Amino acid sequence: MSNIKTLREICTELRFELGRGTDKDFGLRNHLSLYESLFAPYRESAQRVLELGIHNGVSIRMWHEYFTQATIYGTDINGKSLARIRGIDRVVPFELDQGDKERLRLLAESGPFDICIDDCSHNWAHQIGSFEILWPVISPGGLYVIEDVVTSYRRYIDRVQIPGTKNYACYLPFDLNSPISCVEYFKRMIDHVNFDGDNWDRVEFSEYQRTIDTITFRTNAIVVKKRMTDTD
Ligand SMILES: C[S@@+](CC[C@H](N)C(=O)[O-])C[C@H]1O[C@@H](n2cnc3c(N)ncnc32)[C@H](O)[C@@H]1O
Repeated sequence: MSNIKTLREICTELRFELGRGTDKDFGLRNHLSLYESLFAPYRESAQRVLELGIHNGVSIRMWHEYFTQATIYGTDINGKSLARIRGIDRVVPFELDQGDKERLRLLAESGPFDICIDDCSHNWAHQIGSFEILWPVISPGGLYVIEDVVTSYRRYIDRVQIPGTKNYACYLPFDLNSPISCVEYFKRMIDHVNFDGDNWDRVEFSEYQRTIDTITFRTNAIVVKKRMTDTD
């Protein structure tokens, strides 16, 4: 029998060991099953994996065990969350307010990242702003995942951030298809993926046209995959 553990097995063991879990396998969202297939090709090869949003540290420990060679970067605004992942070999805690673009640019300097998972404030502006700053430092063939895009279906309110506390900024009743939501942003991005030019002499391709291979919409998550090269 193989002794290579699945993500779910790692997650279950951590729950026993630490007495706490991750919310990635909860309800319809089913993220562990998604990641099981999505991340398998990167398991041995990934050098740097980044997760925005640490909470109790379980998901960071899960990535640490799953990606055998990678350095795992975990970011959070909350000092207690950062403390949860201090002192672990191959794990780098990075203090970050997700709305702070200067700090995001500093974080980008630690790249390239093979995989980035945004499981942080779930505020649309933060989800979009982080993608725009971190996408250029995703490795060729790498993945950028945004979790909890369910907030795109709630009316936007920009709550004042209270340092050291959670900041879920978008929790109000349904406001389907708001043009500024994260999901709408990626729906518009579909045109960058599909359009390959109607006049080869005049078209100048955008950064996203040249670099996005696929955008996949999953239950409560968006997965963007980078091309290996401009022409692959
Ligand atoms: C959903 S939890 C992360 C869960 C974790 N990834 C897991 O799967 O177990 C979201 C985290 O984002 C952090 N957070 C909330 N607002 C933030 C902000 N504006 N900047 C940075 N971190 C923030 C919270 O402190 C919390 O730890």
